[in-house]
Amino acid sequence: MKYIIAGTNRPDSNSLRIANIIKSIYTAMNEETEIISLQDLPLKELDGTQYSKNKPTWIENVNKKIISSDGLIFIVPEYNGSMPGVLKLFIDHFEYPGSFVHRPVCFVGLGGMFAGLRPVEHCQQVFGYRNAFIYPDRIFLPNVWTMLENDKITKAEIMKLLEEQAKGFSTFVHALKTNGLHANTSAK
Ligand SMILES: Cc1cc2nc3c(=O)[nH]c(=O)nc-3n(C[C@H](O)[C@H](O)[C@H](O)COP(=O)(O)O)c2cc1C
Repeated sequence: MKYIIAGTNRPDSNSLRIANIIKSIYTAMNEETEIISLQDLPLKELDGTQYSKNKPTWIENVNKKIISSDGLIFIVPEYNGSMPGVLKLFIDHFEYPGSFVHRPVCFVGLGGMFAGLRPVEHCQQVFGYRNAFIYPDRIFLPNVWTMLENDKITKAEIMKLLEEQAKGFSTFVHALKTNGLHANTSAK
């Protein structure tokens, strides 16, 4: 199972809209995915005491999903030149090393004129540091609000990019798994 992480808890989030569109692309490829929306997680319960042993059940459950995942697809909006703080808070509650090391990850950025380049590159630093397998073909959605209508992407060329990324990421994950390099199959 691949998980699509909608990287903010903001109500009416465009990231969640993009996550749903990407989910439908994977469904059309007969690939099972599930969205993890930060809006659905009780992140306000995190008061600093849950980093190590005191993890609430909901974090344990999310961690089980992350640790068993084929791959993680992050939808990362730009907030003040970086990823949203809640996304970093969420990532900081992942288990190490199981969540990160040799886990395939893929990024779609969104934002204003710089299209989410900065938050994606910040995420790449985090996952690169933690030895994940980063899929190289990233997608950036500039002025994302201009390309969405009724929760659909209006530009065919953007849909094509998203479809190509999904196909490429799927092949990437498959290649890592079949060669014993994937987090779930390699000896770490
Ligand atoms: C708190 C906040 C900070 C933002 N900062 C930036 C920014 O630095 N650069 C940018 O291009 N867009 C910025 N935006 C615009 C968002 O990237 C854009 O509205 C996008 O849709 C946000 O994703 P969301 O709808 O999933 O929250 C910001 C939006 C919010 C809410």
